[in-house]
Amino acid sequence: MSVEFPTLSGVVTAVRNVSFEIGREKVGIIGESGSGKSTTGRAIMRLEPSTAIIKADRLRFEDVDLLKASEADMRTIRGRRISMILQDPKYSLNPVMTVGEQIAETVILHERVSKRQARERTLAMLERVNIREPQRVFDLYPHEVSGGMGQRIMISMMLISSPQLIIADEPTSALDVTVRQQVLSILDDLITERNIGLVFISHDLNLVKSFCDRVIIMYSGRIVETIEASKLDQARHPYTRGLLEALPSLDRPRDRLEVLKRDPSWVEV
Ligand SMILES: Nc1ncnc2c1ncn2[C@@H]1O[C@H](COP(=O)(O)OP(=O)(O)O)[C@@H](O)[C@H]1O
Ligand SMILES: [Mg+2]
Repeated sequence: MSVEFPTLSGVVTAVRNVSFEIGREKVGIIGESGSGKSTTGRAIMRLEPSTAIIKADRLRFEDVDLLKASEADMRTIRGRRISMILQDPKYSLNPVMTVGEQIAETVILHERVSKRQARERTLAMLERVNIREPQRVFDLYPHEVSGGMGQRIMISMMLISSPQLIIADEPTSALDVTVRQQVLSILDDLITERNIGLVFISHDLNLVKSFCDRVIIMYSGRIVETIEASKLDQARHPYTRGLLEALPSLDRPRDRLEVLKRDPSWVEV
């Protein structure tokens, strides 16, 4: 798949000829800012602006040809079969609706249930993401919840329809370290328990290494390497090696960290 954006100053190629498959596994997409990670995730859900030019030989989700699916088909797929979790819940939640109403609304939208059933499902889901007083939290507005709780609310909203695939774009980057671990372990439990595939977009190599099964490394819109997370230390590509060398380590303190090297030839491959 390639994604181009025509702009006033010329065509920006955000994604160049990437190709991958994802099953019921946790796949990390890693790379520095601007490497095309988010564009890749959004293109799968067809959430790119209509000006974007998406070219692909094949873009398939199970039995659906995502290149040919109608906008109406895509709406059903987005709500029920593929979900997206973004970095900051503040921008994904409606500020004038309580968080409980919003989650319940997604249930009502996709399933034939009564308002009461939707409320009960929502409360159970909030409890499932370790929210201790679901009755109280149901009636809170997005600005009244903390970052960590907001992200757990997003997780409940995205998982309540039991999707087969979740695309999480830097889901914990706005959280501090202790809260991040809690949110990740809740996400991990739920996707394992429900056998969901996960695309985990991140710029945090250490995080992806411990959290994912497989890692796709992107540089300048291309995939430079795909590797089992457990074998990341043996990565061959000089860019991946550079990312690894640039990580500070408590086990091996160093006087200075390597500067990340870049080679124009990596883009041509
Ligand atoms: N709507 C858009 N219009 C023009 N350029 C875009 C648009 N969206 C993304 N880009 C460009 O595509 C490249 C990849 O962006 P992005 O996918 O957001 O990278 P990442 O998520 O890895 O930081 C960047 O150069 C970015 O400026
Ligand atoms: Mg991004």
